[in-house]
Amino acid sequence: MKNRAILAVVCSIIPALSGFLVAIYLYGLEGTPGLVRWMPKYARLFVMIALAGFTPALVFGLSALAHVFLAHRGAASFAAPATFIIAVIISLCCTAAYGLGIRAFYLAIHADPVGLPPIHRYDPAIDRPLVHLAFAADPHIGHPAANGAATEKIVDTVKNGGYDAFFILGDIGEMGYPGTDFENAARLLANGTPIVTLMGNHDSLVGGGYRYRKIFNPDLYFRIDSGRVHVIGLNILWDEGSFDKTQRAWLERNLSSIPEDDTTIVITHAFIRASGYTEPTSKMDWFDSAALIRDLAPMLEKGGVDLVVSGHNHFMEYLEAPGTGKPATGYAIVGTMGGKMDPVRTHVSDCSKWYLADQTGFLDVDLSGGRMKLTFRDETGKPLHEILR
Ligand SMILES: [Fe+2]
Ligand SMILES: [Fe+2]
Repeated sequence: MKNRAILAVVCSIIPALSGFLVAIYLYGLEGTPGLVRWMPKYARLFVMIALAGFTPALVFGLSALAHVFLAHRGAASFAAPATFIIAVIISLCCTAAYGLGIRAFYLAIHADPVGLPPIHRYDPAIDRPLVHLAFAADPHIGHPAANGAATEKIVDTVKNGGYDAFFILGDIGEMGYPGTDFENAARLLANGTPIVTLMGNHDSLVGGGYRYRKIFNPDLYFRIDSGRVHVIGLNILWDEGSFDKTQRAWLERNLSSIPEDDTTIVITHAFIRASGYTEPTSKMDWFDSAALIRDLAPMLEKGGVDLVVSGHNHFMEYLEAPGTGKPATGYAIVGTMGGKMDPVRTHVSDCSKWYLADQTGFLDVDLSGGRMKLTFRDETGKPLHEILR
């Protein structure tokens, strides 16, 4: 009886602990805390994964109850040993499912992609200097409502437009894993304009970070120097959650090392300043990030950054930082590379200068002649709005 009790405790604790650890591991994957913060409905998935580990403990409890009940009734205690054996089997199956499941998942998200055409990542040592640049974000390749034709047209227009580099600012695929969204994106982008990419929140899911780094860009934040033009890529997946102390210190060092008269462009996936809307289910505000406006925007605006280009919101917008003197840091939103369009904004940022909903396209930045000319274009290259800075 005592041995049976010890066995019951061991067989209860091991799967419960396994479930807890698996849930912690999955929650800790890049981009997942942000997912839960912005879409709280997904929290229940992790709770369910953890709670399933308590199933054997529950069955052992029922077994003990059956034993007490049948002994009290004077009935043969056949049912009690039977439920106990079932509980032991469930415990073994449960533990094996956690162990084998997480092992298979780990191997799958760390599998090296094979058979993909090489992607031409922009390299200032080899490629043309950065003078004529294209920016777009959020093609969401693989999403059923994505406008794949617009995505393909933008890639084609940029390829034939004489651009020196194409900056694609995240949410390249609808999901980093599972599926083949990245593979399809890589095939589309092969043999085109040299690209520079950022990882978006969708690319990071679920455990998509390894595949993203392998296929598109090993660095989540980086600096590209092309003469007196500097592009700084930041890792901002959802919000301030990924802008940690290490990245902040790196940014401070880099901004302070760039001469004031040089041109500095910062790219991020998630927006800092932007108009937007309140998402009806989660009630989360997809506009002006209070934390990033407090903690990051002053560094950029006082640090000589000329332009910040972001995606995440699926519309076009141009904004200018308030009260920063000459010239104000410009902000552009270009999450218009094919992902399902956002609803029309219900919040207008104080910094908003121009806004266009429901239009796919990209941003053209021309740095020739010692000035910066921004042109929002549709997928065919037709100009929609120009800003001369
Ligand atoms: Fe997106
Ligand atoms: Fe996004």
